[in-house]
Parts: sequence; C-alpha cells; structure tokens
Amino acid sequence: MVPMLDLQKQMDGIRDEVMREVAAVIESGQYILGKKVSRFEEEAAKYIGARHAIAVASGTDALHLALKALGIGPGDEVITTPFTFFSTVEAILYLNAIPVLADIESGTFNIDTSKIEEKITPRTKALIPVHIFGCPARMDTILQIAGKHNLKVIEDCAQSFGARTGGKMTGSLGDAGCFSFYPSKNLGACGDGGLVCVGSDALAAEIRLLRNHGSAGGYMHSTIGFNSRLDELQAAILLVKLKKIDSYNEMRRQKAALYNRLLSGTPGIVCPPLGDGGSPFTHVFHQYTIRHPRRDAVREKLREGQVSSMIYYPVPMHLQPALRFMGHREGDFPAAEAACREVVSLPIYPELEDAAIERICSAVKSV
Ligand SMILES: Cc1ncc(COP(=O)(O)O)c(C=O)c1O
Repeated sequence: MVPMLDLQKQMDGIRDEVMREVAAVIESGQYILGKKVSRFEEEAAKYIGARHAIAVASGTDALHLALKALGIGPGDEVITTPFTFFSTVEAILYLNAIPVLADIESGTFNIDTSKIEEKITPRTKALIPVHIFGCPARMDTILQIAGKHNLKVIEDCAQSFGARTGGKMTGSLGDAGCFSFYPSKNLGACGDGGLVCVGSDALAAEIRLLRNHGSAGGYMHSTIGFNSRLDELQAAILLVKLKKIDSYNEMRRQKAALYNRLLSGTPGIVCPPLGDGGSPFTHVFHQYTIRHPRRDAVREKLREGQVSSMIYYPVPMHLQPALRFMGHREGDFPAAEAACREVVSLPIYPELEDAAIERICSAVKSV
C-alpha cells in the first residue's frame, strides 16, 4: 500500500536524535515554557525572517490569538477563502467576528485577489489569505489591497512552512503569520503545536500574554487569556526537524516535479504550479493536488492499485452544515465548488519513492 504520507519513514532518519532530545526534556523536569520552547521560538523566527515567533498549542490557536491580539472582535468582518480547512473560519467565529468569503483562482486554489475588494465594507478589518497546499497566495496584491483599505493581514501558513514568495517566507509578510505543527504538516510535531510570527513588539507581547492566561508571571493577570502553550517535548522534536525542513521541502518539490512531468499533457488533468523558474514563489507541496473531471474514477483505480488518495476538500466553507447560518447557497462561489468536485490529492512525502510515483501516474492516466 502506498500511504498519503509515512511519518515513520521520516522518523527513521532522525530517531536517535529525537529520542535523545525527548529523554533530555523528561530528565530536565521542565515541561512547559522552558528552554526548548524559547530556543524553538528563536530559531523559527530566524528561519521565517520574523522579528518575533510565539509558540502556541495549535495552528487554530495561532489564528485565534493573532486575530484577538490584532483587535478583531464582535461584528468585525474578516475576508478569507471558502477553500480551506475549517479552522480558518472557526478562529474568526471564536471572536464573534464575521467571516466573509471571496472565491478562489482555479489554478492555485488560493483566494482570487480580484474578488477581494468587492467584499470590503466599512466593517471589514482583516484579510486571511491561506497558502493552501503550500502554495503562496498572491501576497503582493493582498498587501496592496490591505494598505489601501487599512486592513490587517493574517497569513494562514498552516500548510506552507518554508514556502517563499517575492523572496520572503510566508508568515513574514502580513501583520501575523500563523503556523500549525499538526503531525502531518511539512514541519510536524508528535502532537499538536502552532506558532505566530509577528513584526511588532507590542503584538508579540500581547500574544505571549494571551497564550498564558493573560499573565506574564507572578500570578498577575493583565488580561483574560487562554491556556495555549507549546510544550517542551514538542519544541524539542520540532528543533530537530527544523534543521531538516529545507531538505524535506526540496524532496517534496522534486516529487511534485516528477508527478507534473509524468501527468502534464494528459487530457483532462490539471497539475499544480511548481512556482520555480521564472515564477516568484516556491510551492512546498504540503499536498500534491490535481484536478480531474473523473476524480472518483481516479480514486477507484488508485484503490485497486493499493494507493491511497484523499479529497482536500470535499465541501467548501459556505456549504458546511455548521456555517448554514451564514446564509450561503450552492453557486455562491463557483470556483471553490468546482475545485471540491474535481480535486484529488496524491501521496506526497519526502521519502516517497520515484517508482511509486511512476506507478501512481500510470494508474491516473489509465482513467
Ligand atoms: C489551512 C489550515 N489552517 C489551520 C489549520 C489548523 O491547525 P491545527 O490543526 O494545528 O489547529 C490547519 C490544519 O490543521 C490548516 O490546514
């Protein structure tokens, strides 16, 4: 069976070091907000090119705390994409703010920047571009729109650790960059974890308070916060993996390039952009997602050949049962709906063998 991803294969390359680091944390007796978390924050900030990085308990919390620290609250409108993981919208709703959706471009599955301005009202306070599947959204245009309308920009980088656009890392371009270390992510912990990157000292201080019950210590609480800390064990594991992230991402990109070489030109199949060469971005392929007019038949063929595949995502945000109150219906965001009907994600991970990709592509092309 070819799985969607194989975390054990990744662990094989780093097991001894991970085990040493985990043992050291356990022996240290310091498990929450200790030296490993501080070091991880320093190293991650350096890597992303951000002034501050604040480690939190998940990617969802990263979005929630960043939005809150930026002053987003009840009745504020936040524009984002209907083609994302549910968390992006959930984080807005935690604050009783209003998610406003703008349709996507069909090539990259990212928010269509030509659809943003028509959604802006006097209540609009922020934009959340999601670098979906590891492909950077069009940040130059998004930042221009935000500047013109005085909006905050919160990048959802849950899927894009290490992706660049315009020479900068995703997560360093907006007011805040929010990352997830859910185990399957390009940089994944052995449990939940998240990170907020910011440039502003005041914003960083506020997020540090919010993640720790509104307290900077000493049982003095200056605001109502949350329990949202990354733990030392996860930070220790992430420090080991952070050293390897460039090579992991490069291997993902090589696999994606091979997929594209084998699949492009096949009638009906649309391959994702690699973003290298003359393009101003680097896709890090958290997912390798193609479009196919008969994607269910593709999945069936793959299943017969003992190959896993997934649909990211089967239902856009505006048609989710939990979001019915938003009053949308089918047809409101045709590009996102078409994507949900046609996408299929194929196995991708750094250690995936080229022979498996060749086998997968033959199965896809046989449909
Ligand atoms: C686009 C996107 N945003 C947010 C999240 C939330 O991250 P977490 O699962 O760490 O809360 C995820 C992943 O799970 C995601 O894919």
